Amino acid sequence: DDIMSAIRQSHNTRHIFASFLQNCQGARPLLLFPLTICIAMLALMKASPKPAPRKPNPAAKLAGSIAARLDRPVVLVGLMGSGKSAVGRRAAKQLGIGFKDSDQLIVKAAGISIAEIFELAGEVKFREMERKTLSNLALASPQIIATGGGAFCQDATANLLLQHTLTIWLKASPATLLSRIGNTKTRPLLHTDDPLATLIRLDEERARLYKKAHIHLDTDGLSTYTAMMALLHALDTHLPRR
Ligand code: S3P
Repeated sequence: DDIMSAIRQSHNTRHIFASFLQNCQGARPLLLFPLTICIAMLALMKASPKPAPRKPNPAAKLAGSIAARLDRPVVLVGLMGSGKSAVGRRAAKQLGIGFKDSDQLIVKAAGISIAEIFELAGEVKFREMERKTLSNLALASPQIIATGGGAFCQDATANLLLQHTLTIWLKASPATLLSRIGNTKTRPLLHTDDPLATLIRLDEERARLYKKAHIHLDTDGLSTYTAMMALLHALDTHLPRR
């Protein structure tokens, strides 16, 4: 009896197993599909290169140290096209401090362009607006300030900036300046027959005044980024270590 019931049981088990396999066969595509996807994903993950480790930003560490040591605004002076605005804006971003452009502030306050101020009110009036704008900015918190090219050539403005801020002269050859300026329409002083000759003359006249700046930086042949890095290194060297 025992033998017979064992045989029957094994027969039943075989029957159940066979019908399970039969059911599975119908569901085989359903089981295979997710499996194939998983294998394909694993293969892809292996094949795709690992994301490169982030390169440490060389400017970031330097900028952090400079920002911690800055106790006054940094004012950029120099001729038109020397990069005061472009380099200044980028340096400020890197240092995590504000950026102001004195020409832009004057334009905003006046509601007309620099060329129109020169035309309608004259250069003397423009210089007065420039001095007032910069005397407010000079006493503000550490930030980068781009001046108009003639600002530092006015004694009162230069003295104020030399006393309260850290001034940096951005130098470049007149030919480089002209290539950077491009459209001379926005620069009333360059509304001449020969803008290059005008820049050469302004360079000769003003160099002795720009020389008074605390730091001199030659930007000839430098991109905005490399000039910004040179500016950060100059600040790093100039500012006392804590
Ligand atoms: C000037 C430079 C200009 C602007 C104005 C006069 C100058 O500024 O302030 O046209 O006397 O050199 P940028 O140096 O920003 O062009």
